[in-house]
Amino acid sequence: MELLATYSQALVAHLENAVIEKEPTQLYKPVKYILSLGGKRLRPVLTLLTADFFGNDYEKAMHAALAVELFHNFSLIHDDIMDNAPLRRGKETVHEKWDVNTGILSGDAMLILAYQLFEAYEPAKFQELAKLFSKTALEVCEGQQYDVDFETRDDVTIPEYIKMIDYKTAVLIGAAMKMGAIVAEASSSCCQGVYDFGRNLGIAFQLQDDYLDAFGNPKTFGKQVGGDIIANKKTFLYLTALNNSTKGDAETLVHLFNINPKDPADKIETVKEIFLTSGAAKATIAEIEAYTQKANTILETLKLSEEKKEKLRAFGKWLMERTV
Ligand code: IPE
Ligand code: IPE
Ligand code: MG
Ligand code: MG
Ligand code: MG
Repeated sequence: MELLATYSQALVAHLENAVIEKEPTQLYKPVKYILSLGGKRLRPVLTLLTADFFGNDYEKAMHAALAVELFHNFSLIHDDIMDNAPLRRGKETVHEKWDVNTGILSGDAMLILAYQLFEAYEPAKFQELAKLFSKTALEVCEGQQYDVDFETRDDVTIPEYIKMIDYKTAVLIGAAMKMGAIVAEASSSCCQGVYDFGRNLGIAFQLQDDYLDAFGNPKTFGKQVGGDIIANKKTFLYLTALNNSTKGDAETLVHLFNINPKDPADKIETVKEIFLTSGAAKATIAEIEAYTQKANTILETLKLSEEKKEKLRAFGKWLMERTV
């Protein structure tokens, strides 16, 4: 997306130097590896964009943006261990390429490196950024714990699912934007507004991630398609299908989400079929649109020019249409 290109290029130039590969190489090589795989870099770009929109100097937010991206990549290394995922950004996950212990420790190091980056800010800003970061990181842990707990629960509700994705994913997107606003010294109501905007967009983003996990193109998605079905993840797709399908299909779903077959191909195919016939796939798309719309409503209350608001609306629309 054109709007993001400038920020993205500036970020990449700094990301190269943010982590030095030194001894012990077993600790730092995986850090360099995961960062070199790229990804969309949405969160740090949002930090820079928000700083630009509220203060005109996005370079000031570079350290915060790098911290957000390091934290995100740390969470992915650990998430891939927890989800037993073989692929990330089209390449082997860290724990597959090395081993689980390497993934744990390299991830830990990335979390600390992320914290360190805030040291570049003067005390008052450092405190504000670090406080938001700690609160957000803890919420991400809580969200991840719910996600894992739900794998073996049969009674997860849709509000519980929304809370789970809000914590594991959306709060970081909100915080990434709020950090940009903090660095730009925006008013507290603007900081809060942009946080709420990012958070609603973040919920739409995770719903879309879950949708793509089932219906994405394996050639371009970069992750194992069907991974959530294999891991018995209680997604919006699953919960809606369960609520809306025939008694027979609902029983099939419950059964399939209580087993872990060696070859999951049939399970994935049957589940996807039920996601479609029950209308759950369509309902998920509608839900993605609803949360994007909610974000846009919040956008209206922000003290930003119409031109900037339009850019943020276009960004939300672009996110909804993504295939990776
Ligand atoms: C993946 O995030 C983890 C989720 C919260 C869904 P992204 O889809 O932003 O991953 P990359 O950084 O672009 O690879
Ligand atoms: C990941 O959610 C959220 C965090 C990493 C905190 P997912 O497990 O759905 O992310 P992917 O699909 O592996 O990227
Ligand atoms: Mg995962
Ligand atoms: Mg996960
Ligand atoms: Mg996912």
